[in-house]
Amino acid sequence: MKESKKIQNEKIEALLKELTLEEKCRMIHGSEFFKSGDVPRLGIPKIATSDGPCGVRNDFYPDRWFVIGSSADYVSYLPSNSAIASTWNRELAHDSGMVLGREARGRGKDMILAPGINIKRNPLCGRNFEYLSEDPYLVSEMVVPLIEGIQENDVSACVKHFACNNQEFERHSVNAEPTERAFNEIYLPGFEAAVKKAKTRGLMGSYNLVRGEHGSESRLLLTDILRKKWKYDGLVVSDWTANHDTKDAAESGLDLEMGITDNFDEYYLGMPLVRAIQSGEIDEECVNEKVRNILRFLLRVRKIDIEVSSTRGGKTTARAVEVPDRDPGCYNGTIMHSYARNTADEAVVLLKNEKKRLPLKPSQTKRILVIGDNANRAHANGGGSAEIKALYEITPLLGIAQEYGGNTEVRYARGYYVPPKYRERENWQEHSITDEWGADFADRDKRKLSAEQRKATKALKEEALRLAAEYDDVIFVGGLDHDFDVEGADRKNMKLPYGQDELLNELLDVNPNIIVVMVAGSPVDMRAWKDRAKAIVYMSYNGMEGGSALARVISGEICPSGKLAETFPNCYEDTPVAHFGEYPGRKLTAAQKKRYKACAYTEEYKEDIFVGYRYYEKFKVPVQFPFGHGLSYVDFRYEGMELKKKDHTVTVSVKLTNTGIARASEVVQLYVGEKTPSPENPVKELKGFEKVELKPGQTKTVRIKLHLKDLAHYDGEAGKWVQMHGSMEFYIGSSSADIRCRKELKI
Ligand code: BGC
Repeated sequence: MKESKKIQNEKIEALLKELTLEEKCRMIHGSEFFKSGDVPRLGIPKIATSDGPCGVRNDFYPDRWFVIGSSADYVSYLPSNSAIASTWNRELAHDSGMVLGREARGRGKDMILAPGINIKRNPLCGRNFEYLSEDPYLVSEMVVPLIEGIQENDVSACVKHFACNNQEFERHSVNAEPTERAFNEIYLPGFEAAVKKAKTRGLMGSYNLVRGEHGSESRLLLTDILRKKWKYDGLVVSDWTANHDTKDAAESGLDLEMGITDNFDEYYLGMPLVRAIQSGEIDEECVNEKVRNILRFLLRVRKIDIEVSSTRGGKTTARAVEVPDRDPGCYNGTIMHSYARNTADEAVVLLKNEKKRLPLKPSQTKRILVIGDNANRAHANGGGSAEIKALYEITPLLGIAQEYGGNTEVRYARGYYVPPKYRERENWQEHSITDEWGADFADRDKRKLSAEQRKATKALKEEALRLAAEYDDVIFVGGLDHDFDVEGADRKNMKLPYGQDELLNELLDVNPNIIVVMVAGSPVDMRAWKDRAKAIVYMSYNGMEGGSALARVISGEICPSGKLAETFPNCYEDTPVAHFGEYPGRKLTAAQKKRYKACAYTEEYKEDIFVGYRYYEKFKVPVQFPFGHGLSYVDFRYEGMELKKKDHTVTVSVKLTNTGIARASEVVQLYVGEKTPSPENPVKELKGFEKVELKPGQTKTVRIKLHLKDLAHYDGEAGKWVQMHGSMEFYIGSSSADIRCRKELKI
């Protein structure tokens, strides 16, 4: 039976009274790289955390950035958040979370440092693959089931990085100054949903500053918004070495300071805090509050119970005890792999399919040539803290060979040369606070190849061109890898590395039927060959079953149903941040330098709410592929759209028919905008979606219900949401640019 809040609080207070100041401070900072401090005298254990979004990370020595190298930490490799978001399937988000939580528990963790949900404000951001979308509604809808799934397992999620961690360049020292409106409409909703709807037990502050305060010790973010406004009583953990000041860290809503250096006692919330309290500079009550949150956290994940006993003299004593029936979790079960596979299947996005180039039916395909480094590359063990040791990872090449079987010859040619990876540096995390890691990547596009490497490049290209001319069916699998989609460094532009544009054009010269697959965690510029390629498929880092999912889509075993969760602009120069000169930020003025601690750059977020499609639509900027785009092998007919207004809700319904000959799923997207958009508002915004599976010829009526209060904008000056009124246009589409029905409603 669930204990009442009152009883829980009484127990917490009883145990709190037992603790000395030193013990309390020990609990609120790291005692190992991934664990908090414990108090064995009272049975209080350490909180064991682990990265990260794509699976449970490998284990490190407690105080050295070297992996232990045990074979006990191989795990299931889940599709990255960028892939999960492309499914637009809430159930799959839940299932991915459930696997992550189960495996975290199975590995003995209490908190998984995921999901990452920062808004994809800039396609160059190195960590976009860890994040969900450019759209706050889609982020909120996907993050809730993800967290709920994780937390079903007596373990905690840790939604990160709160807030505005939208770039990796100077991530420790860049200041974000979003307008009040953008803050509330774009950057906060995902976190608010994680706190209020998903009831996340954990949240991580960010490295960057927001309005002059570092995210992990910000009074605005952690105290005023999170604790006071959203009434959050879960655990707030800092990012690793994200604190800069004992007083700020102590007096903000932060509970647990973690870091990447091994001087644990000297962390800001360690001995410096003990001394500051003893000298009267800081009130002990702020430590008590953190300890309460930590004890509540331990109770919530059922790591402890608190036993309170009364002595004869009426005094109470308390201590923490283990919970015998805590969920033990498990990892690497085949059932987990089937969940990873289901998500991977729906994360593949068909961007272009001229003249029905795809699918490539196995019965009609005698031989296939697969070209490209990404066909043969495993990605799990890269990207920064999202790296994991995957139990297995099916590469596209393996997936294709498996799918087509022994009657089809599958030949491989690398096609282009990829220099040895930077990511192989073992203790990068130790260097990441000095930004050395980021600097390592600065010249990655311009790496000089040795004479030997140039020779290899030439030979690979010649081989690919020769073979491509001989084969009818050629699949090119290129894109990016974790030297580009990586923590700590942004890309310089959206161009493809390793000479892929040139190679693709030459390949298309000798064989115009080549199918192109782009594997990447963020948009790439495909204009050099996009119009020439008949079929283009996009897949993000799609987990252990990514290669087989891709193969199933290519063969037509399943119809693709992924949709882009972010716009693919033509190039970086076309993005809102580039247009407004808002990236990588302006160097601080002398006055700002005095005001802001450990800050080097600042950004005013001048694009305001015009992020992603909100910008491209408003400013009529053509894009490569719009938000929500993704084709199927079948056609869907949309008809009979209706709007029903009742009390404070509107129900939108539409009839959807699969007019093709295969079972397929479609994401019905609902956008709403003013009939005549005012200058300050987007043309339209995503307000609902439903993913529907239909048999050939089947029709379903899809209903999406929304509350009138969902049609509101934030008035920065008044500091409140203001409901929109007047003539509103409701759009139903297969993407943000492929609107199939529309209807007006007066509100
Ligand atoms: C990252 C976090 C991660 C932490 C622990 C930091 O560098 O920003 O996302 O959870 O390290 O590895």
